[in-house]
Amino acid sequence: MAKLTTEQINDIRSSVDIVDVISKYIPLTQRGKNYFCVCPFHDDHSPSMSVSQEKQIYTCFSCGATGNVFNFVMDYENISFIEAIKKIADISGIPIEVDLKSNKQQVVNQKLYDIYDLSLKFYQNNLNTNEGIGAKEYLLRRNIDEDLIKHFQIGLAIKQRDLLTRLLLKKDFAEDDIIKSGLVIKSEYGLNDIYCNRIMFPLYDLNGRVVGYSGRIYNGNDTSKYINTKETEIFKKGEILYNYHRAKDECRTTGQVIIVEGFMDVIRMYSIGIKNVVAMMGTAVTKNQAVLIKRMAPEVILLFDGDNAGAKATMACATELEKISVIPKVVRLEDNLDPDEYILKYGKDKFVSKLNHSINVMDFKLDYLRKTKNLNNSIDASKYVNEVLEHLNSIDDDVLREITLTKLSKDSSLDVEFLRSKLNAVTKNEKLREAKKTTKPKVSKYEKAEVYLLYYMLKSSDVIKLCMRQLSSLPTKSYRDLERLIVTYYKEYGYINEADFMSYLIDKDEYYMNTLKQIQRLDLKENFTLDEIQDYIRVILEYNIESEHQRLLKLLQETDDQGKRREIGQKMVELKILRGE
Ligand code: CTP
Ligand code: MN
Repeated sequence: MAKLTTEQINDIRSSVDIVDVISKYIPLTQRGKNYFCVCPFHDDHSPSMSVSQEKQIYTCFSCGATGNVFNFVMDYENISFIEAIKKIADISGIPIEVDLKSNKQQVVNQKLYDIYDLSLKFYQNNLNTNEGIGAKEYLLRRNIDEDLIKHFQIGLAIKQRDLLTRLLLKKDFAEDDIIKSGLVIKSEYGLNDIYCNRIMFPLYDLNGRVVGYSGRIYNGNDTSKYINTKETEIFKKGEILYNYHRAKDECRTTGQVIIVEGFMDVIRMYSIGIKNVVAMMGTAVTKNQAVLIKRMAPEVILLFDGDNAGAKATMACATELEKISVIPKVVRLEDNLDPDEYILKYGKDKFVSKLNHSINVMDFKLDYLRKTKNLNNSIDASKYVNEVLEHLNSIDDDVLREITLTKLSKDSSLDVEFLRSKLNAVTKNEKLREAKKTTKPKVSKYEKAEVYLLYYMLKSSDVIKLCMRQLSSLPTKSYRDLERLIVTYYKEYGYINEADFMSYLIDKDEYYMNTLKQIQRLDLKENFTLDEIQDYIRVILEYNIESEHQRLLKLLQETDDQGKRREIGQKMVELKILRGE
């Protein structure tokens, strides 16, 4: 396909209103000219993100996230630029033909993705050979039928130690890449497959590409039940959730995401038609994953294994989610069962009813914290109260906090008012910390001039022209580099606006966007006069002269050569004239 031109990209961008698009993802409230919402890109507690209809960009004044409609969709849905363009074009009904594979990031690690594509076919095929009969029987015994095997692309690494290695070498993959993939290991005996005699469950990145495996024993008695692929450039465990790419649309339509521990649980739930499920895969939830979960759906249900470890994991996951203002619901399964076992034992109806009777997270925590204590013992009781209060402090829900205080009061025979007073002390401190975090950084007079000039250059070609005529360059490197790019853009397209310039930056080094972020979050005033621009230019010129003066002075001190000294002296005189002395 032909590459999209900048003009086509800009047309697609301006075919939608950023306010309409963002409001499909998060509720927006209008205040004055702009719209506001809670920022989905950091752990926001109050609406810090502003969306400008006029400029067609969004900016978070707390974390600095900024961009046009493409940036938003890319970051929110974790998709590539080209996929975002396609998405927006689809909304407007603009027909475009794009090659979704021409994703920049993908090209970088293309060899690794290719290795995984090939290994997936290889493992899947093994399951259907004679050597796969035992594994197939194992899966069928566990009620994983052909449809599920196909849907979840389950495969098999057979008992021979070098089959995949040989295949990869035969297909001319470089030894380096083969080792980097994490599927092959090099030892004194040469190259060998990591996985052998295991059922292979592919793991996917957020875009649904296979980037790793979890290999399960099924007939041997190896000590580790699962072996997971090591982290690679394309496989970062803390950044993925099992089944994310399949579940995300379902979660958006149902408004609910269910979190389970293992992928077996995901597979089993899928088999009874529950598709809005992702798995943690036995690791503690990272902040990154918590933010992903928050973006998937407004209602989060934690459905971990019924054993003690599952209860502990529920506590940890809930606490991580509460930090970003997500208040999950909790479902606990009896008899230490996990969702897979529960469904097999009790059937779909009982399981669904279980799901529909989730409890609120604070009730779960009260229960959990009380279980190991004897409340008649005052040491235990005071420990219990303090622990609950600590958890209450991170709950961003006034009603739930009040309800829980009442329950805590009953449990501890302490007055509600007293308990509340204990709570406020901590909450107030936290609010203060928050406020401190979001105060704007101070900038010097020169930096202020640079920042304002850049900000207004993005709005007006008149400012660009003035700067081109009068300024050689900006003092600060990052600002200077951005300025050059703005000028290049203007020279090429003959106009400028922030939203289109942001599209232009998507393909450039992230460094430029980061500089722009810094400027955007300063929340500078929108209007300017050309007199103000002149003043800023003057400040920069003054700075340039001063630093040139300093440079010459240093040179003068460093040299004894009379000729050179005279030359420098002459330059200093010229500078004095420029300074108007
Ligand atoms: N896990 C792992 N390594 C292990 C055990 C577990 O990586 N030795 C991860 C796997 O991703 C697994 C999840 O933790 O999906 C949950 O573990 P567990 O509850 O033990 O697995 P089950 O889902 O019950 O798997 P199975 O029913 O096959 O035993
Ligand atoms: Mn299980």
